[in-house]
Amino acid sequence: MPLVSMRQLLDEAAKGGYGVGAFNVNDMEQIQAIMGAAKETKSPVIIQASRGARQFAQDKYLFHLILAAAELNPEIPIAMHQDHGNSFETCKSAIDLGYTSVMMDGSLKEDGKTPASFEENVAVTKRVVDFAHERGVTVEGEIGVLGGVEDGHGAGGTGLEHVTDPDQAVEFAELTGVDALAIAIGTSHGAYKFSKKPDGSVLKMDVLIAIHKRLPNTHLVMHGSSSVPKDLQDVINQYGGKLKETWGVPVEEIQLGIRNGVRKINVDTDNRLAMTGAIRKVLWETPEKFDPRDYMKPAREAMQKVVAQRMTQFGQAGHAGDYQAVSIVEIAKGYKSGALSTQPLVAAK
Ligand code: G3H
Ligand code: 13P
Ligand code: ZN
Repeated sequence: MPLVSMRQLLDEAAKGGYGVGAFNVNDMEQIQAIMGAAKETKSPVIIQASRGARQFAQDKYLFHLILAAAELNPEIPIAMHQDHGNSFETCKSAIDLGYTSVMMDGSLKEDGKTPASFEENVAVTKRVVDFAHERGVTVEGEIGVLGGVEDGHGAGGTGLEHVTDPDQAVEFAELTGVDALAIAIGTSHGAYKFSKKPDGSVLKMDVLIAIHKRLPNTHLVMHGSSSVPKDLQDVINQYGGKLKETWGVPVEEIQLGIRNGVRKINVDTDNRLAMTGAIRKVLWETPEKFDPRDYMKPAREAMQKVVAQRMTQFGQAGHAGDYQAVSIVEIAKGYKSGALSTQPLVAAK
């Protein structure tokens, strides 16, 4: 199957009442881990690359590795997504390369640190939407600001400092026409999200539910959604790591979100933890080894295990064969006629 539009993938998820994990990649082994998990669980997938990932791997390498994944797995719908685009130019460069979806994160200024004004966010996001939709490419926007800093990107703080205002979310969605909307409900990027297990009173699920009621056709996105499982932390610490005690987002909270309009769930940290633990274990137990395959293979397997588990928990497992790809050209026509601005590609349940 060719790369598919993320809009189609999320409209199908809405129809089926499930969520789709969006997993970050930087290299071949991570792409293979995701595809292994997608094959194993028969899941549609979103593969996403941050600006840092595009720089690390170099655009062409990463793009062609993902094309290889599509070529080798024709039965799996794959959307290729730019994570946290910081400017029109970043999003345009991803679209020019062939990404089928971009996130314009206008909640922060171009420096990726300073919260932007509502007006600035609307202006840059609308510009990306106009450019992307003309080419059939999906756009995710963000309103409200997440906590934490990853690779220099993020406003810092706890995640509860800039929780999304539902009125602003509605106005933002109407003014920009985004297909998907990331909202801030108290999560942060990275491993250090909470100092104790968060219950329903920590994560602002009421805000999420209020937004979904008012924007039933806009797919909601949860960033910072790694669960940071204790067993993955323990492996790292057992083999010489020094992680401090920490908690992530409980899977049950994500599942509550999925029942209330969350269609895309961003996970990176859990996979980083799984790979690092596996590498540490090999190097600790067999310090004489130096062939990268000896530790990259277990690292890839550890990531595949986490991804497959999330695919099952989010409900996307078993849905890879539900549909055929609609071409990006057809999708562009849908945006042009206005059909896709008010109607999903497929009716939600
Ligand atoms: O948004 C954060 C993702 O975990 C990507 O992180 O910018 O370090 O690649 P990164
Ligand atoms: P985590 O750090 O919780 O995995 O979040 C990843 C993310 O939101 C990528 O955009
Ligand atoms: Zn994010």
